[in-house]
Amino acid sequence: MADTSSIDGVQAMLAEQGYVCGRALATVVFLSLTLGRPLFLEGEAGVGKTEIAKALAAALGRRLIRLQCYEGLDATSAVYEWNFAAQMVAIRTAEAAGGAERGTLTSELFSDDYLIERPLLQAMRPDENGAPILLIDELDRTDAPFEAFLLEALSDFQVTIPEMGTVKAPEPPIVILTSNRTREVHDALKRRCLYHWVDYPGFEREMEILAARAPEAAENLSREVVAFVQKLRTEDLFKKPGVAETIDWAKCLLALDVITLSPETIADTLGAILKYQDDIAKLQGSEAKRILDEARASLPA
Ligand SMILES: Nc1ncnc2c1ncn2[C@@H]1O[C@H](COP(=O)(O)OP(=O)(O)OP(=O)(O)O)[C@@H](O)[C@H]1O
Ligand SMILES: [Mg+2]
Repeated sequence: MADTSSIDGVQAMLAEQGYVCGRALATVVFLSLTLGRPLFLEGEAGVGKTEIAKALAAALGRRLIRLQCYEGLDATSAVYEWNFAAQMVAIRTAEAAGGAERGTLTSELFSDDYLIERPLLQAMRPDENGAPILLIDELDRTDAPFEAFLLEALSDFQVTIPEMGTVKAPEPPIVILTSNRTREVHDALKRRCLYHWVDYPGFEREMEILAARAPEAAENLSREVVAFVQKLRTEDLFKKPGVAETIDWAKCLLALDVITLSPETIADTLGAILKYQDDIAKLQGSEAKRILDEARASLPA
């Protein structure tokens, strides 16, 4: 049974799902669960923001509902839509059958049968396993009007469907919002939430993550991989590698039966950690060797 009664309990519960988190993150998760406050996670790409919602849902046995944000996302596609095609068919059928009474037909057309529930509405529905986890992912991709709308939905956990009435969550969902900070999210929304900046992990923690996510990798290779990526993050790059890249890279090296890093193997597999040609070009020539040497020198004995 998942133990959410203490910070240690939360940390252990997430670890069981293969999610390695430090004390600070475990603390905000614990507080968010205890106080019923949304959790706002910001950080670079691939540092484990989305994953925490998945780990939490798995640990608590709750349903995970994901609202993936994108430019142009509006309230309609986030809450509900009417199934126009099915409504049209119903109208035609009624017409062909001699026409149902107008009033009855209208109320039938705007009933659950023709309602397509989108994530926000789904999250307001009761669930036998307890309130679902609502992941509002990459909020920075939407615009200010959507944020304002979200602010309202998150403050009373209810949505109004003009044709049907108001749906109120019997138990508020556990809300996790993430942002890559391509723009600042409005203060009013942040104020409702508990905030945590998810940073790149340090050496020891990244070793633990790798052990959890790529257990087949030998200790020695993992140490080199993590040290190299850690060093790489201090270089002047357009896009620094996240934890996801570390895991990917280790898996690539394993698939190639690499036992220890060399400038050649690094050059051959750079596409797993760097995704921009300019960054890759920077590691040409003697650069990879220099970073590898520095990474090796930094390894604890
Ligand atoms: N602390 C961690 N413990 C275990 N695995 C982790 C951790 N952090 C990251 N990962 C791994 O890294 C991968 C990427 O994480 P995730 O998708 O959550 O990143 P993100 O921060 O949401 O990135 P983006 O901003 O690109 O969406 C996950 O699939 C997971 O395997
Ligand atoms: Mg993500």
